[in-house]
Amino acid sequence: MKTFPLNKAFTFLEPGPVVLVSTADQGRQNIMTLSWTMVLDFTPRFAFMTGPWNYSCKALVKTGECVIAIPTIELAKKTVQIGSCSGTEVNKFEKFKLTPLEAKCVGAPLIKECYANIECRVIDHITKHGIFVLDAVGAWIDEKHKEKHFFHAVGDGRFIADGEKINLRKIMIAKIPEGV
Ligand SMILES: Cc1cc2nc3c(=O)[nH]c(=O)nc-3n(C[C@H](O)[C@H](O)[C@H](O)COP(=O)(O)O)c2cc1C
Repeated sequence: MKTFPLNKAFTFLEPGPVVLVSTADQGRQNIMTLSWTMVLDFTPRFAFMTGPWNYSCKALVKTGECVIAIPTIELAKKTVQIGSCSGTEVNKFEKFKLTPLEAKCVGAPLIKECYANIECRVIDHITKHGIFVLDAVGAWIDEKHKEKHFFHAVGDGRFIADGEKINLRKIMIAKIPEGV
């Protein structure tokens, strides 16, 4: 993994792909699948929704840290399987043959097999709605990763694979931060 400019980290989440969220509670590493994500601003600040029925939620509340890892379509099946079992019963890194890598700023691990990884700290937890607000504190990209297409949940068990990227910057009115 190579460091990735933090001010561009939002470009991985803005399209709303299915993501993996890693946590580590007292050395016990875990992964969950998540599709309810949101970009809040360019700082970069994100939000996602989860609740106490998930093992990851307890680790998030306790440690205040996680990594949002962005899988590409060759990991789609594994991603759904990861989101269909709980870390209370299985070590998902072992079961799904994924490699945890040490992050720089948080205790949760990066996932080597993912195209990008964003280290995050929880800055707010709106319990009424299960919303975690996160500040990204580090970002990584695997430049050698061949597959570059993400996938998106329809919500009914079907998924949409990313297609072609179209550059319409010239006609954008909204200001894009410098360097992005
Ligand atoms: C495609 C997909 C998307 C999901 N999105 C979310 C989500 O946005 N929020 C959530 O709380 N759970 C979501 N889940 C369910 C969790 O990933 C699932 O409950 C998981 O088993 C939790 O693991 P844990 O108990 O190890 O934390 C999703 C599952 C799948 C398969």
